[in-house]
Amino acid sequence: MTEYVPISHRDNENGTKLFEILMPRFGLGVWQMDKNECKSSILHALENGYRLIDTATAYGNENAVGEAIKISKIPRDEIFVVTKLRRVHATGFDETISQCRESLQRLNLDYVDLYLVHAPPEDISVRGDVWGAMEECLRLGLTRSIGVSNYGINHLESMREYATILPSVNQIEVHPWLQRAELRKANEGIGAVTMGYSPLARGHKVNDPSLVSIAQSIGCTPAQAAIKWVYDTGCITIPKSSNPNRIIENKESLNIDISDFTDSFSSLEESYISGWNPTIEP
Ligand SMILES: NC(=O)c1ccc[n+]([C@@H]2O[C@H](COP(=O)([O-])OP(=O)(O)OC[C@H]3O[C@@H](n4cnc5c(N)ncnc54)[C@H](OP(=O)(O)O)[C@@H]3O)[C@@H](O)[C@H]2O)c1
Repeated sequence: MTEYVPISHRDNENGTKLFEILMPRFGLGVWQMDKNECKSSILHALENGYRLIDTATAYGNENAVGEAIKISKIPRDEIFVVTKLRRVHATGFDETISQCRESLQRLNLDYVDLYLVHAPPEDISVRGDVWGAMEECLRLGLTRSIGVSNYGINHLESMREYATILPSVNQIEVHPWLQRAELRKANEGIGAVTMGYSPLARGHKVNDPSLVSIAQSIGCTPAQAAIKWVYDTGCITIPKSSNPNRIIENKESLNIDISDFTDSFSSLEESYISGWNPTIEP
C-alpha cells in the first residue's frame, strides 16, 4: 500500500494553511535513465505499486515519463508526477511559466502534481520573480503544488521576503551519510515537507561496510536499510533504479523495521555530498 503525506501551501504573511494535497511518500527517481530505460522502469514500477515519479527537464526524459504513464492505463489522478524548472531556465517570470508549459508538452500532460525550482536561481536578483511565476503556475492550474529543491536555510529565509505562498516541499540530498537534521528542521519551520533525494548517495554507498553490517543485523539488503532510514526520518523517498529486481527490492524496504538501529545509523553521518550542493551557495 502506498502511504501518502499531506503537503501544504501556507500564506507567507500569516502562516495560514491555504490548501494541501496528498503526495505518495515513496517513488521512483528517473535521473540518468535514457528514454527506453525510463519507460520500462516506470512501467515496471507502476505495476509494482509505485505511484510517484520524480523527473526534471534537466534529465531529458520527460517525454518518456509521459509515454509510460499513457501506456500504463493507470488513471492520471492516481499517479503523482514531479518535474523541475531547470536552473539555466530560472531567469525570470515569463521564462519560468513558458518552461512549465514546455514541460507539460513534453510530458503530454495537462498538469503536473508538483513543480520544483531545481536549485536556487544563480542570479539572486531574479529569485523573487521566478517564485512569483511558480505561484502563477499554481493559479493557472499547470501544477497542483509548488516547491523548491536544493534550497539551504538562507534561501528559505529569503523566501520570507518575496513569497506570497510558501513552498510545500524542499527536495534535498538526504541519506545516512548526510542526515541534514538542521535543514530538515528549517523545511518544517517554513511548512515544507522534505523530499530526500539520492538515498543511496547515487549508489556510492551501497557497499559501505558499516551499512552492510547494519543490514545483516536487520536481515535486509544494504540498499533497503539506507532507503528505509531516509523514509523513517519522514522524508518523501525516491531511489532510482533501472533494474527490475531492485525496483521491487527498494519498495520492499518499506516493510522493514529498523527501529532498533537508531544509534548505528546515527554513527554513519559523515557530511557526504554525492554530487552538487547548491544549499551552501549565497
Ligand atoms: N533535485 C536534485 O538536484 C536531485 C539530484 C539527484 C537526484 N535527484 C532525484 O533523486 C533520485 C534518486 O537519486 P540518485 O539517482 O542520485 O541516486 P540513488 O537513488 O541514491 O542511487 C541510484 C544508484 O544506486 C543503484 N541502486 C538502486 N537500487 C539499488 C539496490 N537495491 N542495490 C544496489 N544498487 C542500487 C542504481 O543502479 P541501478 O539503476 O542499476 O539499480 C544507481 O546507480 C534521482 O533519480 C532524481 O529523481 C534529484
